[in-house]
Amino acid sequence: MNVRSLLLVCVCLLFAVSELIAAEGPQKYTGWDEVHAGHKKATPVWTLPKATAPANMIWDIPSMPGELRSEQFFTPDVCAGCHEEIYNQWQGSMMGNAWKDPVFLAVYKHYLEKSKTDHEKEETAMCSRCHTPVGYVANESARYLTGKLSAPGEAGIHCDVCHSVSKSAGVGNGSFILEPGDAGAGEGGTKYGPRDDSTSPFHGTQYSDLHTRSELCGMCHDVAHAHNIMPIENTYTEWRTSPYNTGDPKTSTHCQDCHMRQTPAVAATGITERPDSPGFAAPEFMGGKKRDHVWQHWFIGGNATVPELLGNPEWAKMAQDRLAKAVTVSVQNVEPAKAAEILRFEVRVDNVGAGHYLPTGLTYVREMWLHVEVKDKDGKKLYESGGLDGKGNVDPKAVMYKTVLGEGGKERKPTFFLPTAVQVLSDKRIRPLGYSVEPYAVYLPKKVDGPVGIEVTVRYRSAPQFLINDMLGKDAPVLPIFDMGFAKQTVKVR
Ligand code: HEC
Ligand code: HEC
Ligand code: HEC
Ligand code: HEC
Ligand code: HEC
Repeated sequence: MNVRSLLLVCVCLLFAVSELIAAEGPQKYTGWDEVHAGHKKATPVWTLPKATAPANMIWDIPSMPGELRSEQFFTPDVCAGCHEEIYNQWQGSMMGNAWKDPVFLAVYKHYLEKSKTDHEKEETAMCSRCHTPVGYVANESARYLTGKLSAPGEAGIHCDVCHSVSKSAGVGNGSFILEPGDAGAGEGGTKYGPRDDSTSPFHGTQYSDLHTRSELCGMCHDVAHAHNIMPIENTYTEWRTSPYNTGDPKTSTHCQDCHMRQTPAVAATGITERPDSPGFAAPEFMGGKKRDHVWQHWFIGGNATVPELLGNPEWAKMAQDRLAKAVTVSVQNVEPAKAAEILRFEVRVDNVGAGHYLPTGLTYVREMWLHVEVKDKDGKKLYESGGLDGKGNVDPKAVMYKTVLGEGGKERKPTFFLPTAVQVLSDKRIRPLGYSVEPYAVYLPKKVDGPVGIEVTVRYRSAPQFLINDMLGKDAPVLPIFDMGFAKQTVKVR
């Protein structure tokens, strides 16, 4: 980290502290040196005003490389011994495959290759903090992709990562504090979770406020640039400033309330039921209790492509279900038109299903766009926006909901290359429970026979085809496109 970025981190920390002071009156903090020493090694982390923070979110240093050994962590198959159903749900998820994901690995490798000095390499290795928390905190050299990680590192974001989080040191950039047991010595340790009445013959149990709230996910689902603290992913912050966060943790709809209630039958979004899944989290003879709801661990997002590539079609199908329950779309304010005149209409898209912006997460890569067609009564195309070219790339004039990152300097060149990105050039996305209205004007031909039909599809793809081709070369798959919503209206032409 250079001096400039260190200074920025300090400013950021001061900001966070002033927020605390504003919320609660002046308070003395004595641990600056330690915190700074810690943050020098981590990327910047910020805090919530205390009144709204979970009890086990504290102002401290997150777990640092070298503090823990990988042998302290159990591999997920051990947990599967008693939590079989939860294991089966988790193992096909993107978090379960975070260190197997070929798209992540290709990007990571590319960035490592571009990093010249040891210092740059160390910064790049910070990517692994969220994608293989054990690989990172155990300081495994394979973080540089020079070999294989230990089994608990290889397992990505797994049981003994999330359930060994005793505290969080703030929001974002992997602010977790891990306190595992000692698997190597057969010591089960304490598993932090949502229950205050559970007992297990294998491990200690401890109620954790953090685990019942969005702030657990916010530790990783808010990402800032390691050099210049530019926001890259903001899913947690988007949620925090949305109507799903009522300010009262008890009445808020947390990440878990959507993402840990989805089953193969119900997508569990803002517009569907979010049903209970009654049952047992562990066998009764082991001490499991019958629960009104056992938290589901499918962790489905918008990614239907990588699960399919990794041979997990059920997760891919559930991601499609989720995408199909995120928006409503309609054609509105259609003005009556004549042949050889302009047909005007608007397309409205409402984010009714997601607890964050649409799209969210890696939004400078994800593609969500409008495919609009106007056809005559025989189905002949009179107009199209948002189609694909011969190479599978989206019409550059299409309405696309996404962010664009830029390099510095006068040209403000758009870039997909994170290490050199310093700013967000544009952000066109749809707020949670918000909407977007897009105007269209279509010049009708001189002769139109009968009414015309306006057809609108909201489409989603995990990344632009050209980007995947660049990253994966000849191994690049053709990325599938998924429909999130459809609307049609017929208009009389005089
Ligand atoms: C020998 C059986 C067994 C094994 C192996 C096991 N557990 Fe458990 N676990 C249980 C039982 C029984 C419960 C209590 C369930 C209940 O209250 O309904 C439990 C509860 C939990 C809870 C809830 C704690 C709370 O207070 O909210 C978590 C989290 C958990 N286990 C995680 C794990 C993880 C992670 C592993 C692997 C490292 C693991 N378990 C391995 C038997 C086991
Ligand atoms: C009201 C329900 C709801 C809540 C609350 C919610 N989500 Fe989502 N989430 C969705 C829906 C619907 C999608 C699918 C649309 C999409 O991919 O953006 C989604 C998609 C995602 C994705 C994939 C985004 C992409 O396209 O790559 C991630 C990651 C995610 N959510 C994380 C979170 C986190 C973290 C939280 C809490 C801070 C959260 N979600 C809260 C409904 C919800
Ligand atoms: C991304 C973090 C994460 C991962 C990975 C994860 N869990 Fe959980 N787990 C949670 C959260 C959060 C809850 C509680 C949700 C709530 O209360 O809102 C939970 C709840 C549980 C419970 C209690 C269920 C209940 O309803 O009583 C058990 C048991 C459990 N997890 C075991 C596991 C096992 C076993 C694995 C690995 C196969 C695993 N978890 C992987 C975050 C995670
Ligand atoms: C230790 C860091 C970490 C924590 C904690 C964490 N996540 Fe994730 N999550 C990730 C990473 C990294 C990925 C991306 C993996 C990939 O795509 O290769 C991910 C992916 C996801 C996805 C799939 C996104 C998609 O595009 O389909 C969902 C959904 C998700 N997380 C939800 C949650 C929820 C809900 C919680 C809290 C209960 C949570 N995560 C906690 C790191 C984390
Ligand atoms: C603070 C945690 C964190 C850090 C650090 C982090 N990521 Fe991620 N990453 C995530 C989360 C969370 C997601 C899932 C978001 C989504 O699905 O939209 C993700 C998703 C991704 C994906 C998408 C994978 C797919 O299959 O679509 C790529 C690629 C990726 N990250 C690369 C990187 C690289 C390269 C770095 C380092 C420059 C990095 N990440 C650092 C949390 C992190």
